[in-house]
Parts: sequence; structure tokens; C-alpha cells
Amino acid sequence: MQLLQAILPRLSFGVVAAEAARQATPGYNYGHATLARAPYSLADLAALQKALLFGDDDVLALRQSAAILADQTDAILDVWYGFVASTPELVVFFGNTRTGEPDPAYLEAVRKRFAHWILDTAEARYDQTWLDYQYEIGLRHSKFKKNRTDGVQSTAQVNFRYIPALTIPITTTLRPFLAQKGASANDVERMHAAWVKSVLLQAILWSQPYVREGEF
Ligand code: HEM
Repeated sequence: MQLLQAILPRLSFGVVAAEAARQATPGYNYGHATLARAPYSLADLAALQKALLFGDDDVLALRQSAAILADQTDAILDVWYGFVASTPELVVFFGNTRTGEPDPAYLEAVRKRFAHWILDTAEARYDQTWLDYQYEIGLRHSKFKKNRTDGVQSTAQVNFRYIPALTIPITTTLRPFLAQKGASANDVERMHAAWVKSVLLQAILWSQPYVREGEF
């Protein structure tokens, strides 16, 4: 009991600090009342998860990864950003259309939101709030909302074909980070498989603004 009393305030301080960091991140609008409701429902989401063989064990595996990844988001983003920066076909989407060069402020602003996304994905809360933010992220990659959040002059959209493709480098390079904190080989495998499914699931949801009316 004494131990609990000692730990609880620190735990809640950690949660409060994490929430404050989220609120302070420009453009990170998860849960904001201003967001549009997703044009797909929680029942659609459940059906999609079924088609992806995404089950309760995947939810548990993702949640197990949350504690492992929490203090590694910067290192993970160094790897992911390194990949994008060294791939001209991808970095062009962070380019300033006037100078033709990558826009460092744009890259940095998105990076801060990306760090929250890693933990949101690991927390695996598949509720209406999460679903509505998936719709928003899809819009932000597409011609409907790209560049608006950060007020930048860049390409009109991320060409859709690259979005599902990025599932592979993102999840392949995540694997060593999942293995950093002593989880068993079997648990690393379970977490990795769950991450592959979750990232693909999100890439599919983000495709909605790119798909012709009625065909999603
Ligand atoms: C599985 C694939 C992908 C994942 C998980 C992912 C993840 C994210 C996340 C979390 C954000 C920030 C969302 C927010 O504003 O809260 C974002 C924004 C962005 N991503 Fe991606 N992304 C993927 C594919 C791509 C690809 C292939 C590109 C091409 C380089 C790309 C370029 C961008 C750009 C330019 C933004 C900023 C959009 C804006 O103007 O608001 N993304 N992405």
C-alpha cells in the first residue's frame, strides 16, 4: 500500500506530463471537437480488422509495445526520417515548392506529431476519437488538407501509392527497437506482427480521401 502511494503520484504526473506535451504540439488535434466525423464507422473498422486477421492478441501485443517504445520515439524517428531523407522519391513531399529543397520547419513540425502517433498506435484505443483522427491524418496526406496544418508551401498531396508501401520500412526498422528491453523472441514477433497489421490498417483508412465516392 505504501509502495502504491509512493508510485501513484509519479504515475499520474507522467500521464499529465505526456498529455501536456500532446496539447502543446502544434497541429496535433487528436480528440478536438473541431475534427470532422470519419465517413467510416466503428463497425466498418471492426470488419476491416477481421479481414486483416487483427484480433485481441494484437491489441495486447501493441499495448505491450507501448512501454517499450515510450522512451525510444526520438531514436525511431531518426531512423524513419533518415530513410525518407535519403529517398528522393519520398523527401520531395516535404519539399518547399519555391526553393525545391526539403523544408526543415515542415519536417520538424510533422516529426513532433509523428512521435505522438507512435504511442497512439501502441495504445491501440479503437474508439470514435481514434477513428476521427485517422480520417484527419488521411486528409492531411491528401490534396484536401496537406500543408494547411503547418502553413507550408509544398506538394499538393502525398501520392497515395507510397503510403501503404511505407508500412514495410516503418515496421521492419521498428523491430530492433521492440527487442531493446528484453522481451522474449516470441513477444517481439507478436508485437512486430501486430504493428504490421496496425500500420496497414491505418494506411487503408487513410486511403478514403483518395478513393472515388462510394468505392472505399
Ligand atoms: C505507413 C505510412 C505512413 C505513416 C505511418 C505516416 C505517418 C504520418 C503521421 C503520423 C503524420 C502526422 C499526422 C498529424 O498531423 O498528426 C504524417 C504526416 C505527413 N506525412 Fe506521413 N505517413 C506515412 C506515409 C507517408 C509517405 C509515403 C509520405 C511521403 C513522403 C508521407 C509524408 C507526410 C507528410 C508530407 C506529412 C505532413 C502532411 C501535412 O501537411 O499535414 N507520409 N504522416
